[in-house]
Amino acid sequence: MKLLVTGGAGYLGSEMCRQAVERGWAVLAAQLETPPPFGSPLRLDVRDEESVRRVLMRHGPDAVVHTAYVSRGPAMESTIVRGSSAVAGAARRCGARLVHLSSDLVFDGEYGAPYAEDADPRPVMGYGAAKLEAERAVVRVHPEALVVRTSLLYGKPEPGPQELLAFRDDLDFFTDEIRCPTRVDDLAWALLELAGDGTAGVLHLAAPDAVSRYELARRLRTAHGFDPSSIRGVPSPRIGRARNVALDSSRAAGILGRPLRGIVGG
Ligand SMILES: NC(=O)c1ccc[n+]([C@@H]2O[C@H](COP(=O)([O-])OP(=O)(O)OC[C@H]3O[C@@H](n4cnc5c(N)ncnc54)[C@H](OP(=O)(O)O)[C@@H]3O)[C@@H](O)[C@H]2O)c1
Repeated sequence: MKLLVTGGAGYLGSEMCRQAVERGWAVLAAQLETPPPFGSPLRLDVRDEESVRRVLMRHGPDAVVHTAYVSRGPAMESTIVRGSSAVAGAARRCGARLVHLSSDLVFDGEYGAPYAEDADPRPVMGYGAAKLEAERAVVRVHPEALVVRTSLLYGKPEPGPQELLAFRDDLDFFTDEIRCPTRVDDLAWALLELAGDGTAGVLHLAAPDAVSRYELARRLRTAHGFDPSSIRGVPSPRIGRARNVALDSSRAAGILGRPLRGIVGG
């Protein structure tokens, strides 16, 4: 299997490349700036449609997993929307399977959780709106693509973004903002399984436990041997934030033969 991962040095992308190399796959780690730790490095700006097409035609991957994105700032929308559309178009053109990463934040979190794949997306923030627009562009351009919505990622041996937040004492953690935190190694495994099958459309793929950001911070501190008692819990200000975006990942569990592992310390 020849796999191309965009965002190959990212939190999820690098774990996918690591596991794919371990499986003996040929792995192209496509990346903007940061050197990827696993796979063959390939510089690629996903916003540049022409070079995305050229690179994919030249390397002819069997599957592309598109994780590259920017979560905020001036490059967010172009990277997410234009970049995803470019990757989908190039994957379609070279006949590659496409697995596209999306987010639970396409939902408003006001009612309906846990959300199934057919729930009405209604993002409340710019990032979620861009991810939804990207999903729609991907499906339009590459109708056989798989669009995977996931939740907060954690669990590498070295602390990632969620762990670094949890270790801070100067933050308040929302007690009513609910997500399905997911181990990055579990998600990477599942995505590699799905890269080799023909599932198309939208799939919710997160761990089964729905917990608050406050609870997640407590669990992560405890798992790393720190005292969780100083963590402060507060209600979310709600405006511009999605409260309960828990995902119903039962369809994915059926396809994969098992659900992903539950929350750390659960
Ligand atoms: N992390 C989470 O908790 C979470 C939750 C829900 C969904 N997701 C989804 O999962 C995916 C991966 O998330 P992640 O946390 O692994 O992301 P990440 O660690 O921030 O990695 C994103 C990668 O994208 C690359 N990138 C940015 N702009 C690019 C461009 N124009 N062209 C090519 N590459 C570019 C970055 O490269 P540089 O480092 O060189 O800038 C980085 O390697 C995303 O699609 C995200 O929406 C993540």
